[in-house]
Amino acid sequence: MLVDADRLHIAIQKSGRLSDVSRQLLKDAGLRLQNGRNALTARVENFPADIMFVRDDDIPTFVADGVCEFGIVGGNVLEEFRLSSSEPAIEVVAPLGQARCSLKLAAPEATVWEGSSTLEGQRIATSYPAIVTRWLAEQGVRASVVKMNGAVELAPRLRIAPFICDLVSTGATLEANGLRPVADVFDSEAVLVRTTRDLSEPKRVQGEALLSRVEGVLQTKD
Ligand code: PRP
Ligand code: ZN
Ligand code: MG
Repeated sequence: MLVDADRLHIAIQKSGRLSDVSRQLLKDAGLRLQNGRNALTARVENFPADIMFVRDDDIPTFVADGVCEFGIVGGNVLEEFRLSSSEPAIEVVAPLGQARCSLKLAAPEATVWEGSSTLEGQRIATSYPAIVTRWLAEQGVRASVVKMNGAVELAPRLRIAPFICDLVSTGATLEANGLRPVADVFDSEAVLVRTTRDLSEPKRVQGEALLSRVEGVLQTKD
């Protein structure tokens, strides 16, 4: 589908918490997708765009590279990308007010917490090392950050690290793993992002049309 040079490419999460939010937004914006749920791409029937279904961590890369002109991603994933990329050619065009969640530090229930100084010299497991490293610097605390790509909640039990920093929405995952939140590190919501690279004139015009449709949807939700 990439041969269609004049069609926009919009990256959304294939499966996960942002997947339904993203599909719903496109639907509310009047975009009708052609293919079924298992395809990795879908053509929009009534708008010159193709949807790419990808891993959420890949969305900022695709948009910054200009492979996809637009994307829908969590603010936490975007921030982690910005902090770890030398040239993040990506901007937020609309916060979507959905999929609100927070990156929180958490520890086993029995852990005594006396503020961020409790972390001094400790290890913290997280999928967001750049955000956690920045937060530690802000707090003036020295701790080591261990990157894990998933199942972060297991880190204390596996003795990988006594603390974790992970996304919390309902809190059910922490609870199920005998952990409790001790500090807020970063608040997040779904955002619509756009590449800051130059677009061809037709794509620029279509991008504006997409944006005004999305803004129309967001206004009805205020
Ligand atoms: C996040 C996080 C927790 C879970 C917390 O994972 O890593 O596992 O959600 O949600 P809760 O507080 O409602 O229980 P997510 O499903 O977003 O995706 P991931 O696979 O990228 O970690
Ligand atoms: Zn295409
Ligand atoms: Mg998870």
